[in-house]
Amino acid sequence: MTRQAIVAANWKMNGGLTLIDEMVSGLKDVKLNHNVDVVVCPSSPYLMAFALTAKNEGLSENFHLGAQNVSEHEKGAYTGEISTNMLQEVSAEYVILGHSERRSLYKETSTLVAHKVKAALAGGLKPILCIGESESERTTGQTEVVLAAQLQPVIDEIGIEKFNEVVVAYEPVWAIGTGKTASPAMAQETHQFIRQFLANADVEVAKRVPLLYGGSVNAANCEELFAQADIDGGLIGGASLKVDEFKVICSAA
Ligand code: G3H
Repeated sequence: MTRQAIVAANWKMNGGLTLIDEMVSGLKDVKLNHNVDVVVCPSSPYLMAFALTAKNEGLSENFHLGAQNVSEHEKGAYTGEISTNMLQEVSAEYVILGHSERRSLYKETSTLVAHKVKAALAGGLKPILCIGESESERTTGQTEVVLAAQLQPVIDEIGIEKFNEVVVAYEPVWAIGTGKTASPAMAQETHQFIRQFLANADVEVAKRVPLLYGGSVNAANCEELFAQADIDGGLIGGASLKVDEFKVICSAA
């Protein structure tokens, strides 16, 4: 079946107005294959600027905006937090949740991530749910147990049917920002496991969920990664800050 392909840019705590101008102008002439959407996720203070620049420059409807985090609460006394409603008002459609940097540096548990996924869906945002194992978990053969433990709380919280509106990003922690990409065969094997895990809950839903690979994706390795049967695009960090390289990655999906 043809699944939605997605290339998502996670700028993390990088970039600003200059990069927004350069990126929007660069993306205007990028050649996308059929069925490919691009989601750019700048830091939250820049979402509105990206949306306005994209509108003024006439970026096509294949380009979308995403945030890098959202509160699990609807509103209230949560200093420093950002709600789903606020993100929607500044034109965000997606939100990255459960990134390994949030899990490790900000102690977000899989239970909290599940609550955030639920809040995002209730607030009309599409979650990009990140899961992935550490290097020691990979080398000690725990990858599948770890991925299952990250996925199951979300399935329990929202129900498998809601995965029709969820994108899953597999990001081995040891490959993030290290230049050590998973081989296409290893990435495919893990994506196949993830799809099968979802299929154990619902075969039809599992067939439709876009599974993105993330971790040192670049212009040189993207084509082979995206050619794998269960890899439907990528979540790109460092290479998404370089306009020309990001364009190559978008065109490869
Ligand atoms: O969200 C993106 C990932 O953390 C990948 O980052 O492409 O710099 O390795 P990277």
